Amino acid sequence: FQGDDGSRPTALRFSQCNGLQVKGLKHRNSQQNHVSINGCDGADISNLDIRATATSPNTDGIDISASTNVRIHDCLVATGDDCIAIKGGTSNVHISNIACGPGHGISIGSLGEAGGHDQVEGISITNSSFTRTENGVRIKTWQGGSGFAKNITFSRITFVAADNPVIIDQYYCPHKKCADKTFAVKISDVRYSGLHGTSIGKQATINFSCSEVVPCTNIVMDDVDIESADPSHHSTTAHCNNAHGTAHAVHPPVNCLINH
Ligand SMILES: *[C@@H]1O[C@H](CO)[C@@H](O)[C@H](O)[C@H]1NC(C)=O
Ligand SMILES: *[C@@H]1O[C@H](CO)[C@@H](O)[C@H](O)[C@H]1NC(C)=O
Ligand SMILES: *[C@@H]1O[C@H](CO)[C@@H](O)[C@H](O)[C@H]1NC(C)=O
Repeated sequence: FQGDDGSRPTALRFSQCNGLQVKGLKHRNSQQNHVSINGCDGADISNLDIRATATSPNTDGIDISASTNVRIHDCLVATGDDCIAIKGGTSNVHISNIACGPGHGISIGSLGEAGGHDQVEGISITNSSFTRTENGVRIKTWQGGSGFAKNITFSRITFVAADNPVIIDQYYCPHKKCADKTFAVKISDVRYSGLHGTSIGKQATINFSCSEVVPCTNIVMDDVDIESADPSHHSTTAHCNNAHGTAHAVHPPVNCLINH
């Protein structure tokens, strides 16, 4: 189980399908990703119950790539990696009523790995909860990629003791040191509204770490309140790098967005 991806199989994989419906399945302890959807149009995924131990590596719940018009709703995902991961070539995805955690949250990405070109747009994630997750709602890109991630909405989200509730990480580099690059996947038109709950994180609660060469633009935050799960020991904070946008009624205060 030490080996990296490839040696262990995805439990259930769908490829090149139209109008796929997957409903009411229970998945336990896949050796790797639990469900993967690739190259599909019009998939409806619902009422899945996916569980693996919090310490099991690379056990994503549901992975979507190169797909259009996807709905994922009414699922419980508790694993050792992303509850849902949305990868390149994917557009028009509606995610709702997901109970995520433990796990690494819901991720857009990673995008732009090894200089790759990725496009993701039209993603909405609503009415969902993140309980004791390592991240909450995350967009992650590698340095040196190209393409875009845009028109992404996170709304009506609850966090319970999440570690990094809101994060854009354009310096994603999980395995080793990554060299600074002069390209990046462009992130724009990202909305956060109605996000509430608690964080246990030692890092910034809201962290927009955007590319120096291709800054994030039009990040819009409204009605966000994330408090410390342990107020006597730490408070919640925000951090931005090269992030443009606006924040209204947001706690912790996000004064670091560039307003133009
Ligand atoms: C943004 O994405 C939503 C789907 O989440 C879609 O309905 C809407 O038309 C898109 N807006 C633009 C301006 O592309
Ligand atoms: C989210 O929840 C609200 C209130 O219960 C409901 O009106 C709305 O239809 C839900 N949205 C989705 C996409 O499930
Ligand atoms: C923000 O996220 C970046 C990328 O993961 C990380 O390197 C940085 O330490 C974080 N900053 C804070 C203040 O948490």
